Amino acid sequence: LVIGSTGLLGQEMVRAADARGVETVGTFAHGVHADAMRLLLEDGEEVRRRIEEVAPEAVVLCGAMASMDECERRPRDAFDVNVEGPMSVATACAEIGARLLLFSSDAVFGEHGAARLHEFDMPDPPSIYGKTKLEAERLVMDASRGNVVCRLGMLYGARPRGGRHNLASLVREECAAGREVRLASDHFVTPTYAPEAAAASLELLLRGLKGTWHVCGPSCVSKYEFALAVADEFALPSRLLAPARTEELEHLAPRSLRACMSNEKLLASLDVRMSSPAEGLRLLRSERR
Ligand SMILES: NC(=O)c1ccc[n+]([C@@H]2O[C@H](COP(=O)([O-])OP(=O)(O)OC[C@H]3O[C@@H](n4cnc5c(N)ncnc54)[C@H](OP(=O)(O)O)[C@@H]3O)[C@@H](O)[C@H]2O)c1
Repeated sequence: LVIGSTGLLGQEMVRAADARGVETVGTFAHGVHADAMRLLLEDGEEVRRRIEEVAPEAVVLCGAMASMDECERRPRDAFDVNVEGPMSVATACAEIGARLLLFSSDAVFGEHGAARLHEFDMPDPPSIYGKTKLEAERLVMDASRGNVVCRLGMLYGARPRGGRHNLASLVREECAAGREVRLASDHFVTPTYAPEAAAASLELLLRGLKGTWHVCGPSCVSKYEFALAVADEFALPSRLLAPARTEELEHLAPRSLRACMSNEKLLASLDVRMSSPAEGLRLLRSERR
């Protein structure tokens, strides 16, 4: 059961499962999606009913209020969806003996001295979003030690139909329309190609691995540098990309400016591909998506 199969990661999770011959059932929250069923994480009764109906071997929880600023604006809703939701899912999974894979985020970390953040580093989220994700991690691991938490770096890939932009899709759309995009040159992230994040996370689940994993690409780059790589790969005018300081961009949510994770543990445990931005963007273009 892929909860949130209509989002950026969820769509890739369904594809990755398909490629491995694993049957999936997907869910959405808003809009109309003929190939998925509706499930609202904040409705504990619906969550329990759906999980009982589908009786999956495993639940992959991609669904979330994933916009950091939206969580800051609506903290109560963020808590209901990102904390109460995973708790209902974890309880229902424990009841039927299904394993649960929760997606979390580098946003669980605050300002940190470390050049790269490892699974053993201490989380200290500055934002509501990060706090909800950390709380969900704890609930999910407490519900069963067999569960898996994958903390993702900044995802990029094909924008889902009617879904949120990611940095690659935003830069492509804005630059193609001739509009300037301002990007933080002081905010460093680990860009992660969504299909590879999905494939690696699925592999963890299929191999029976448990606990917390950092699933991210190898490079630590600023958002501005990543945008330059997008413009380069898609032959877009890089003069439309304007470097800015994060504080000038007026985000609502506070964020750590150096949230680069290490994928060392993942690569030591699995034979998976995690591409650099140049490689991942080339794959994205070659897949014509
Ligand atoms: N994107 C990133 O850079 C990033 C980085 C780190 C971690 N993550 C985490 O990775 C996961 C997937 O992120 P994403 O970028 O794929 O998110 P996304 O594109 O925004 O997709 C979110 C999915 O969750 C569903 N959803 C939204 N509200 C829901 C609710 N109240 N109940 C049930 N489902 C709901 C959406 O359904 P509808 O389409 O119907 O709205 C959609 O399928 C999230 O847990 C996110 O926090 C993402």
